[in-house]
Amino acid sequence: MDYETPQFYRVMQYAAHADRDVVEMVSGSPDWDPPESVREGLSDYADADAADFQYAPSRGLRGLREQIAARHSVDSDRIVVTNGAGEANHLAMTGGLDRFDGDEILLADPVYPYYAGRANFLDAETMFVPVDAEGRLDPDAVRPAASDRTAVIVVNSPNNPTGAVYDADTMREFAAVAEETDALLVADEVYDQFDYSGRFSSALEIGSPNVVATNAFSKSMAITGFRVGYAVFPPTDGPTGGLAERATTRHMLTNVSGSRPAQYAVEQAMATTEPAYYEAARDRLRSRIESFCGALDAVGATYTRPEGGFYVLARFPEFRGTFDNAERLIDEAGVAGMPGAAFGEARADWIRFSLTTPRVDTAADRLADYFE
Ligand SMILES: Cc1ncc(COP(=O)(O)O)c(C=O)c1O
Repeated sequence: MDYETPQFYRVMQYAAHADRDVVEMVSGSPDWDPPESVREGLSDYADADAADFQYAPSRGLRGLREQIAARHSVDSDRIVVTNGAGEANHLAMTGGLDRFDGDEILLADPVYPYYAGRANFLDAETMFVPVDAEGRLDPDAVRPAASDRTAVIVVNSPNNPTGAVYDADTMREFAAVAEETDALLVADEVYDQFDYSGRFSSALEIGSPNVVATNAFSKSMAITGFRVGYAVFPPTDGPTGGLAERATTRHMLTNVSGSRPAQYAVEQAMATTEPAYYEAARDRLRSRIESFCGALDAVGATYTRPEGGFYVLARFPEFRGTFDNAERLIDEAGVAGMPGAAFGEARADWIRFSLTTPRVDTAADRLADYFE
């Protein structure tokens, strides 16, 4: 699989140029509003002093880091504010490759393609572990796949694309495998506000020196364009304490700092956004999951109901998840999904639909008509 060419863009472009109306279910950009305080924070910023239009501290605005630290009950010196979870994952993965022996990154199959693309780009070897029938990565399958070549293990919960959510015991097992093999567990928790199962457990709760958690406000505050994320590195006085410092240097040499107005607006929003905002987003998605999965049931598709996140991975009878078929679905049904083949081998027959559109019902009707 070619993970370095932007496959999402390819399908989205095809959908945009189709000769018919298409419900776009490819991109993972929320279609709902950010918290009101994000808008207010941005608007206030227009009147800020000239000094506030200059570089931010490289690790991120202090007030923002302190709130992130409080949210996760960690010291703020463990936090680097990044350009989205994407950069946080990059810093964590490169840090793991630098610090631990081995040149291999262990990933789930199906995989969020940017992890695999990044591994290729960094000339790291990849080892893929297929998920189980429910779309979950099983620590007992990860353990024998990990070896002294493994430097980094990446897990993502809630998961893109399978919708799996890992509970505390499972996360502890993943961390144990990382410790046993002297590797770094990178836990991407960018969908942590979208847990419908009540089982989500942050990898930070384990307190392992072999864990880095990555996150962002991109999805939780519906601001993928702001590029504000963060990584939480292990305690700086522990055996892997150098990871935070090295990541800060890499981040600084690449970016100098992140965007100051965006961080300011997020800082305001973190302080003032009520839990009801996140609850409303979950409710909206729960109802979309309900109607979309109803249509999948009606046409006899195989799927796993997402426990978290906002994607549904489905397999239709006699309709494989190839790029050709994704294009057929656009032209003939008016629904654009991401071919499973873009996520690896294990779900190559499936198609991933993002529920970040207000037209989920329309898509459900169209798929029901098409496959009926
Ligand atoms: C699992 C996962 N990690 C990271 C990202 C990127 O997040 P950000 O936009 O904050 O860089 C995405 C975006 O879709 C994602 O699905």
